[in-house]
Amino acid sequence: MNESERAYAPGLKGVLAGETALARVDGENGRLHYRGYPIGELVERGSYAQVAELLWTGEWNADASLSCAPLPAEVIDALRVLPSSTHAMDALRTALSVWGAVEGTLWPPTVEQARALTAVAPSALAAFARIRDGLEPVEPDAGLGLAEGFLYQLRGERPDPAAARALDAYFVVGAEHGFNASTFAARVIISTHSDIASAVVGAIGALKGPWHGGAPAEVVDQLHEMGDIDQAEAWIRGTLERGERLMGFGHRVYRAYDPRAAALRRVAESQAHAADWLQKAVAVEEIALRVLEEFKPDYPIKTNVEYYAAAVLQGVGLPPNLFPATFALARHAGWTAHCLEQAEVDVLIRPDVRYVGPSERPLPA
Ligand code: ACO
Repeated sequence: MNESERAYAPGLKGVLAGETALARVDGENGRLHYRGYPIGELVERGSYAQVAELLWTGEWNADASLSCAPLPAEVIDALRVLPSSTHAMDALRTALSVWGAVEGTLWPPTVEQARALTAVAPSALAAFARIRDGLEPVEPDAGLGLAEGFLYQLRGERPDPAAARALDAYFVVGAEHGFNASTFAARVIISTHSDIASAVVGAIGALKGPWHGGAPAEVVDQLHEMGDIDQAEAWIRGTLERGERLMGFGHRVYRAYDPRAAALRRVAESQAHAADWLQKAVAVEEIALRVLEEFKPDYPIKTNVEYYAAAVLQGVGLPPNLFPATFALARHAGWTAHCLEQAEVDVLIRPDVRYVGPSERPLPA
């Protein structure tokens, strides 16, 4: 068939670009499963370590555990030379790039490599945050789970168990979500027989973009900006009338309520000390959904995961400038599981492109 007659979908929208046994994202019905298990049950009864093992191996291991790993000296040295204004995503990307160079991870990706990368990333982000704030990095405690160990390395003291549980639940919710842009980037890289560290570094670059991983910090700003709850409706209407978007609402795939938002709302409700902020978030959500329906009666725009991610991360006490990189920590399980899955398929991802430039012509004399 002639190139110009072949179907083309900008942004690959609606194109089936692969097969996966990891996550089922059912946008019409607002459902999400990891290897068949509903996200709500995984959040209530599972841990991030169990979910990560499930994604990597396909098996549910009730005894699975995962702790933060120590950083090679070269990674800490690299973090020390970054300017203090460095974006946390740039720092995480740099740290893992150095880690990959030091470890010399090679094709094919293995479950051990996936575990090692997922375990070292929280240590790298915590070390960056401390160095940026003029503090010394803290050695990881091998007795703590990943979320708890991250908070410990960030603050230098054991976190409140409720905060650690809430962050672990957030990690479960953020672990995997199909062929999103960063995951697809990781699969393209690993499909060339490159190494798993390179694939994750590329994925972090893709997640950094505000169209993909940047919304929860903006949700916090938005709730702050609108002032008291009795001013919320006027603020929301003003925003929509100016053609601007409400952060934490809408999704490319979900036409129903995002099941991850529902799961994280329950987690946020369990964070007693975050009650005031959450109360406002719940009240604003109700108003926003009503006004969005009025503005866009034919296009359902519901609450997305980022809205209650902001509530949970705020409740855990993380600064908003670490929100996107904390999302990246959670997504390590999914990115690396996709690397393992892509290596099984073992086919180079290299689509065709339609040429739309000038036809053949001589160089100017
Ligand atoms: N607020 C106001 N209007 C919206 C919103 C919103 N949050 N979301 C979509 N719309 C409107 C658009 O303005 C557009 O209106 P128009 O047709 O009059 O121009 C219409 O709905 C369709 O918009 P699209 O961008 O084509 O729809 P899509 O479903 O692909 O949008 C997206 C998805 C980009 C996430 C969008 O909903 C958005 O920008 N939301 C706010 C940012 C956000 O919360 N991002 C996090 C998403 S979750 C995640 O990535 C993990």
